[in-house]
Formats: sequence, structure tokens, C-alpha cells
Amino acid sequence: MKLILVTGGCGYIGSHTIVDLIENGYDVISIDNNSRSNESILLGVEKITGKKVKNYKVDLCIYDDVYAVFQENPTIQGIIHFAAYKAVGESVDKPMMYLENNISSLINILKCAQEMKVPHFVFSSSCTVYGNPDVMQVTESTPQKKAASPYGLTKQIGESIVENIVDKCNTNAVLLRYFNPVGAHPSIAIGELPIGKPQNLVPAITQTAIGKLPQMIVFGADYDTKDGSCIRDFIHVSDIAHAHTLALQFLELKKDENTCEIFNLGTGDGYSVLEVIKAFEKENNIKLNYIIGPKRDGDVIAIYANNNKAKDLLKWIPSLTIKDMVKTAWLWELSLQNQSQ
Ligand code: WQD
Repeated sequence: MKLILVTGGCGYIGSHTIVDLIENGYDVISIDNNSRSNESILLGVEKITGKKVKNYKVDLCIYDDVYAVFQENPTIQGIIHFAAYKAVGESVDKPMMYLENNISSLINILKCAQEMKVPHFVFSSSCTVYGNPDVMQVTESTPQKKAASPYGLTKQIGESIVENIVDKCNTNAVLLRYFNPVGAHPSIAIGELPIGKPQNLVPAITQTAIGKLPQMIVFGADYDTKDGSCIRDFIHVSDIAHAHTLALQFLELKKDENTCEIFNLGTGDGYSVLEVIKAFEKENNIKLNYIIGPKRDGDVIAIYANNNKAKDLLKWIPSLTIKDMVKTAWLWELSLQNQSQ
């Protein structure tokens, strides 16, 4: 079986992608220093797939340690690079930490890919590369505006590096621009494990609903949108995960071409923050304790995807709905509470 290296494999999207890769016949190893994740998530992966996944607890910013993993696993056929800091709000406060971590780790993994002649590379990018788009439903060719946050800047730089290096690494690549990944695997054996206070909307909702947080703040409700709150393209993490398997298969079919293709991974539907809260309350029969607070620096006002290219070329069909997203997110939060009791 083909061996795939997943960096950030103990993370939210990384762990869900490992499940999908294994279910599609791949062998997987992970590199994750667990600075923003917990290795216990791989127990959930094993529960779903029956497979133990080895995680190398290595800092991707230390080249020699990364290269040692490749020397121990010389048959790696593909790399899916998730490992990065990814909180928009935090990146505004700590721009240099984001640039140093996200870019240095990418350069090290690409140097190893070049040295070890790894044929395929999938880069975890983000819709934040578009900045504040003039047209809400963005396509892959929508011009990138100035990133609204240092996080988005690291993804813009990362994409440029991968696009410009593939032919020198003798590899081909796909850049996957995630919109807003939410929800948990339908088995509820894995899900999102924010370290500390959650930065993202859905874990903030579920942690408020279960009482871990006293109250949730909606960051701004006077934007020029349908209800004043920001609009995002929320996409179930399992749909995002499957897109990575399809991206690898796409690259395998193009193994002699040094291509670098970009794909939007979103549903194409825009939901506002307040609409997500209402969907959560209705689906789970819960009244959420939230207030309207000030806008958050770095927030894009509204963005959602045109996903036709991924549907056409990757044969990707996102199938899970906003109801599935808020339901599985809540069931996962409940399972975490049960585990801690
Ligand atoms: C969404 C909306 C907040 C928390 C994410 C990922 C990023 C990238 C893009 C993949 C915003 C509002 C949030 C809260 C709130 N994805 N919000 N109260 O900023 O769109 O970025 O998607 O790469 O990695 O982080 O997501 O969930 O932080 O915010 O009102 O307590 O929810 O202001 O409008 P964002 P988010």
C-alpha cells in the first residue's frame, strides 16, 4: 500500500483525513509536535479504522529531525501538509510567530520532499488567501487581495512557494483552499480539540452550550450583510477530508506532470454567524447564551466558494449539511464531557 505522510496528523482536519486515507487503502504516518493538538485523537482514528497510526512528535521547524523521519520511511509516496498555526485572531496579535512557524515548517518539508523525491504534495491552504473579496462566491481565479490577517498572509506565501518549487522538487501538487471546516466524524470518535479558549465559531458555540464557557460573543452584528453578522462557507470536516484522498488520486493520475492545481473546498452556500447559532439551537434544541460584541480584527466580512472546479476535476461532492455540522459538533462536545467524567 502507498505510504502517505500527514503533517499535523493529530489535528482536526489532519485526523479526519487520516481516517479517509486509510478507508481508501493508504498507509499513513503522522508528524505532529502536539503544540496545538493531542495525540489521543489517534486512538479515535484507530477506533474507526482499526489501524494504529504512528505519530512522530517532531517540530517541523527543525530540519534534521524532519529529515530523520523521511530516512526512516524512504517509501513515502505523498505528503499532505496541514501543520500550521491557524487562528485568524491570534495571528493578528502574533504575526511573526505565525510567519516563522508556518513558513519555516513548509520549507523544511519541501526540502525533504525534494531530497527524497516524494512524487505528490498536497498543501493545506485557506480561503483567507482571497482577503475581503469584492464578489462573495470566489473562484480559484478570483484575484487575491491583501490578506486580512497574518494567517492569511502565511497561506498566500505558502501557495507561492509550492507553485514555484514543484518542478524543482520533481513533484506535483495540489493547493486546497478550505473555507470553514466544522463538525465531527459521524462516528463521534474524533472531532475538534481546541487547545485553550476556542478561537473558531463552532467550538465556541458548543463549549458555551455545554457550560465550559460562560457566554459566547458574536464579533460584530453591524456589517453590511443580510443580518449584520459575518458570512462564511461552513463545510463538514469529513467532506474536507475526503477531498484530500481525491486530490492524491488526482495527482497519481498525473504522476509525470509537474502540475500545481488549486481547488476551493466549500459548499458554495454562505451562512451568517447568527444563522449558524440559530441552526445549532434548532437542531439540538438548545438556547445559546450569547451577546453581540465588537468586531474582531482580521475578520473577512463575507466569503463563500464556487466549488465547481473541485467537483469537475476531483469528482468531489460535499454531502453533509449545516444540520449535520451543528449536530455532530454538539455530539462530539457531549462525548468529550462524558470522557472527562
Ligand atoms: C468565523 C466567524 C468570527 C468565534 C477559519 C479558520 C481558518 C480558515 C478560515 C482554514 C467570524 C465569528 C468566531 C466567536 C464569533 N480555515 N466568531 N465568535 O476566522 O473564518 O477562519 O476559516 O484554513 O483557519 O480559522 O473562522 O470560526 O474563527 O470565525 O462571532 O467566538 O465567526 O468573527 O466572523 P475564520 P472563525
